[in-house]
Amino acid sequence: HFSIDNLVKQVEGLTLEAITDKYPGCHPELNPFDLYRAHLTNVLADITGVEPKIIYPILSWTLSLDKGDLTLAAPALRIKGKKPDELAKEWAEKFPENDPLFQKPTVVNYFLSFFVRGAPIIESVIPMIRQSGSEYGHNKFLGLKDPKDASQGKKRIIVEFSSPNIAKPFHAGHLRSTIIGGFIANLYEGAGWDVIRMNYLGDWGKQYGLLALAFEKYGDDELLQKDPINHLFTLYVRINQEMTLEKEKIEERKKAGEDVTELEAQSLDEEARRYFKKMTDRDEAALAQWKRFRDLSIVRYKDTYARLNIHFDEYSGESRVSETEMDRVGKEMEEKGICQEDKGAMLVDFQKLIPGKEGKRLEKPLVRKRDGTALYLTRDISELLGRHEKYKFDKMIYVVASAQDLHLKQLFKIIELLGHKDIADKCQHINFGLVLGMSTRKGTVKFLDDILRDVADKMHETMKKNEDKYKQVEDPVGTADTLGISSVMVQDMSGKRINNYTFNMEAMTSFEGDTGPYLQYAHARVSSIKRRAGLSDDEIASADLSLLTEPHAVNIVRLLAQWPDTVKNTLNSLEPTTVLTYLFKMTHALSSSYDHLQVVGSERELMKARMALYDAAHIVLGNGMRLLGLSPVNRM
Ligand code: ARG
Repeated sequence: HFSIDNLVKQVEGLTLEAITDKYPGCHPELNPFDLYRAHLTNVLADITGVEPKIIYPILSWTLSLDKGDLTLAAPALRIKGKKPDELAKEWAEKFPENDPLFQKPTVVNYFLSFFVRGAPIIESVIPMIRQSGSEYGHNKFLGLKDPKDASQGKKRIIVEFSSPNIAKPFHAGHLRSTIIGGFIANLYEGAGWDVIRMNYLGDWGKQYGLLALAFEKYGDDELLQKDPINHLFTLYVRINQEMTLEKEKIEERKKAGEDVTELEAQSLDEEARRYFKKMTDRDEAALAQWKRFRDLSIVRYKDTYARLNIHFDEYSGESRVSETEMDRVGKEMEEKGICQEDKGAMLVDFQKLIPGKEGKRLEKPLVRKRDGTALYLTRDISELLGRHEKYKFDKMIYVVASAQDLHLKQLFKIIELLGHKDIADKCQHINFGLVLGMSTRKGTVKFLDDILRDVADKMHETMKKNEDKYKQVEDPVGTADTLGISSVMVQDMSGKRINNYTFNMEAMTSFEGDTGPYLQYAHARVSSIKRRAGLSDDEIASADLSLLTEPHAVNIVRLLAQWPDTVKNTLNSLEPTTVLTYLFKMTHALSSSYDHLQVVGSERELMKARMALYDAAHIVLGNGMRLLGLSPVNRM
């Protein structure tokens, strides 16, 4: 850790071991701010007489650099008998003039703001980032079962996300789940967890009996092989239209007083029910057919996910939930009085089980239909228990639209009532709002591929407008694709998850404002400086960083030093916007610095030092983008 050692050495009597032992979760070798916090705590403990372990966790970071790098609210130290603003003033006066890491604090009301000194942070953090590379921002200790003993192993998390329904449109809810879920999985991986990425396909139910029927009638093997997603969708739409017409006809005859028993028995609806019954009875031919649809669809999904840098460790799905298991759990629920019969069906009457508002809010979901078949919720119950049995996870996250808030609450509550509160407590629903007005230029979207293609076309048109640059891009179509994907993803992650947003092709593909293309442009611009400077890694590593004295340089490094803390905070909020906000703050600081910190054309030593700074920024920007699931481009 010799770069952080530079910083440690500044402070007399300080050792890395001493602070790592003293403060929980303090790892200056991964997070420079941990050192700043630890040192500041030591100093403040002397001044205030308050115990270090009280001070350390309440030193908080600021929203913008002009508010300092760390702040302390005097009342948080709970000292009685004196006014907090007086205390703040008193402490600021006592703060040593010549502290090696911090300037004398400033006081506003009862807030103390601490600003770091430029030189030490520059000379330690830039080398640290350049040595850590893609690891900068990771923290392998967070995911350890026992943070003090790595031999106990990692904690395991299942992130279930995307989960589209075969033969049905991949709608906005699936898009958001895919983007947010991919991000959350990356986040936990960087924090050292053992992450299992799971896709729980909607691939079971009577409608899939109907689909199989449609394939028997109108299916085309060649088309199925070539384009399973679209072919199955076409069949699905066609057979549903047919079924609707048929139902209307039967209704009319019924009204006219005819006997429709015969017609109903031969109807598509009934046939579909029978077909699906065969599937649930494990009829081999029916299941083999169904498995083909599923497997071919998965092959296609995988291509699309790859464009988004996403892979799944497991494609589970509703069809995989065992009927025997569901029967078993069903009996158990009955025995424990969790569900009861109601007109031949089984339901959970939460209002009876849980008094008050909570029970009322949970309503009365069905867990068995009158014909004995299971439902979405029934499958989720057995699936959850099965996953716990199989993976012994420490945590499981469901990334599902807020439209399913109630469903997941019911699910977790049933697990708890079954006597598995420990398991229910490990589960978390990460929800999100709607995307409004999602349509391509050719009409309403059906599949993710349609959206991505359309946005990529738009980016390609934009790129072509700058002929000189366009000629230098090696793979313009591929780059346009990447930029298009970035546009969609950044727009999706810009607000808080729970907020709805309007799908706006113009806004998301613009280079102005906080967009995907802007972020990519910022990355490509630093890449271009690197190319033009043409310095070797060794040359950059040997730069004399004390030449970086400009406020612009100091401010960039102050932001770069915040990255590991930002990631750690994001683990609490699980909000991609926390990362995006940071990245935009950083890219804004970068773009306003170029005029002040010229690289190419500067005197050689200065050029090396500035290049080291921009190289560090390049690394952090790339790490941040990859965490979000974006592929940073070097030219565009
Ligand atoms: N396939 C479902 C849908 O499209 C989402 C599945 C969510 N996950 C779950 N375990 N229920 O609505």
